[in-house]
Amino acid sequence: MSSPMDYCLMGFFAFLVVFVVHANAAWGAPFEQNYMVEYGSDHIQYFEGHTQVQLTLDQTSGSGFGSKAGYGSGFFQMRIKLPDKDTTRIIATFYIISVTSIHDEIDFEFLGGNEIFLLHTNVFTNGVGGREQQFSFWFDPTADFHTYKILWNEHQIVLFVDETPLRVFKNITDSGVGYPTQPMRVEGTIWSADWASNGKPVNWSSAPFQANYQWFGIDGCQAQTLNPQQCHSPDLFWNGQKFWDLDANQRKAYENVRNKFLKYDYCLDRARYPNVPPECQVNG
Ligand SMILES: *[C@@H]1O[C@H](CO)[C@@H](O)[C@H](O)[C@H]1NC(C)=O
Ligand SMILES: *[C@@H]1O[C@H](CO)[C@@H](O)[C@H](O)[C@H]1NC(C)=O
Repeated sequence: MSSPMDYCLMGFFAFLVVFVVHANAAWGAPFEQNYMVEYGSDHIQYFEGHTQVQLTLDQTSGSGFGSKAGYGSGFFQMRIKLPDKDTTRIIATFYIISVTSIHDEIDFEFLGGNEIFLLHTNVFTNGVGGREQQFSFWFDPTADFHTYKILWNEHQIVLFVDETPLRVFKNITDSGVGYPTQPMRVEGTIWSADWASNGKPVNWSSAPFQANYQWFGIDGCQAQTLNPQQCHSPDLFWNGQKFWDLDANQRKAYENVRNKFLKYDYCLDRARYPNVPPECQVNG
């Protein structure tokens, strides 16, 4: 038997529940289901029933989108095809970033150049960044779509390109290294920046610069506060034990790609960091 008081309490608890666990593997989701335009709406075009979005940068504007919600854990994926021609000083991005004033962020930034792209990554935790690692591509990222993925659970953050893990950031808060504590939104942008080109100017005769994005479903724990009971739940597949560490095959692929394609690693930059940052000792 439910009394009116029970209903009142249920309503009260429903009000307290500020998170919704959300696992949506529908990669065919239209853009509007989980995302919204953040800027440059007249520089965004939609294809394939809004399951593909093209961001444009020209001399008048760039463009960008973001997820409507924040997420407290997840396995975020985006298929991206980068702009071709001379993309000097152009940056396309796919990243997750905290929604509060405590800055957590995990980045893929694709730095353009003349016929080449550099894959730039960074991890910010509790306002601390400066953890750049850069890779050259082992394929032409302007020729086809490739999948860029960010795994984030309580144990590790892993950046993947297709099935290849190329960067791992472990939760070693016990050693005093920050780990993201805030819900993060998923974002994609195209813009241009000085730091991406050693001072070389944008080649506007190659404009418009167009980056294409697909897969607007989100496998994430939708949350307004990172509630560990919800977002660290083993019921969410990316929290399962198989996602706590790289397996033997992934480890092999990880070592191989880093041996061959790692171009810059803050962990090895003794001029910048005379003492090896503690996370570098466990993150391979
Ligand atoms: C980091 O790992 C510890 C266990 O070692 C866990 O208690 C904590 O919740 C994790 N932190 C985050 C922010 O996921
Ligand atoms: C600028 O872009 C145009 C068009 O793609 C190209 O033909 C030209 O070689 C580029 N200029 C330079 C300096 O690379």
